[in-house]
Amino acid sequence: MKKLQDKVAIITGAGSGIGAASAYLFAREGAKVVVADLNQDTGREVMRKITEAGGTAVFIQTDVSISNDVERMIQTAVDSFGRVDILFNNAGILGSPLENLTETQWRKELDIMLTGPFLGCHYAIPIMKKQGGGNIINTGSVASFIAGGSSPGYTAAKGGLLMLTKYLGKALAKDQIRVNCICPGAVDTGITVALWGQPSTDEEKKAIEQIRFSRIPMGRAGSTEEVAAVALFLASDESSYITGAAIPVDGGMLA
Ligand SMILES: NC(=O)c1ccc[n+]([C@@H]2O[C@H](COP(=O)([O-])OP(=O)(O)OC[C@H]3O[C@@H](n4cnc5c(N)ncnc54)[C@H](O)[C@@H]3O)[C@@H](O)[C@H]2O)c1
Repeated sequence: MKKLQDKVAIITGAGSGIGAASAYLFAREGAKVVVADLNQDTGREVMRKITEAGGTAVFIQTDVSISNDVERMIQTAVDSFGRVDILFNNAGILGSPLENLTETQWRKELDIMLTGPFLGCHYAIPIMKKQGGGNIINTGSVASFIAGGSSPGYTAAKGGLLMLTKYLGKALAKDQIRVNCICPGAVDTGITVALWGQPSTDEEKKAIEQIRFSRIPMGRAGSTEEVAAVALFLASDESSYITGAAIPVDGGMLA
């Protein structure tokens, strides 16, 4: 039996990185996937690959920071598949360092990575309550726990998202809605390329990795599949007694 057989899963930021790996994995495990992303090209490509492999998916262009977009995204799941079992609030962007942080950029980071997940919850929870239950997963970060990353806005958003997760996990337990948070460390994705650049030589790659991996006991980056596997665990009944929790997927960074 597949772990998410016939479940309806919405994944934001599903056009790339952790979201795309989760969309493929959830679809292989039997979920009907709503691929939501700001980027039409990558989002449609993920949808196409899922359907080509025999899975079920629809794409909806969504800016998670815009209330109407998020409402439409949730409605797309209901219109296409009749329900919303899993909401994976995963979309994110690289934050700006303190020196360049304008008020506009601060608001943008908070809008995408804290208000975005709130909006998803805001529109999905009434549907989940009516259905008799549901499952919400948020992508936090090691920055949910420790400062010192690249950006104060990103850190504030991810810290806030951890507390939103805890609050909702407690408040919604009685409604059979579980809310948990995944906290990746260093994972090779679009965000890491934006942060570190694309090394053009082996020496450059080595030099970047030396800095990047110095704080990681396992001495390497995680893969998107390693994060997606934890998302699947949280989305499935295997984690049926876990709510309000945050699971680091960080090679030991937070230990
Ligand atoms: N990669 C890491 O090392 C790392 C570490 C900790 C946390 N995270 C978190 O993981 C999540 C996924 O990021 P990733 O690493 O896979 O990066 P990624 O850049 O590969 O994927 C992010 C996706 O979000 C989409 N997106 C950006 N803004 C959006 C918006 N306003 N509305 C909808 N979609 C939008 C992008 O188009 C992209 O497809 C993010 O929340 C990020 O903060 C990543």
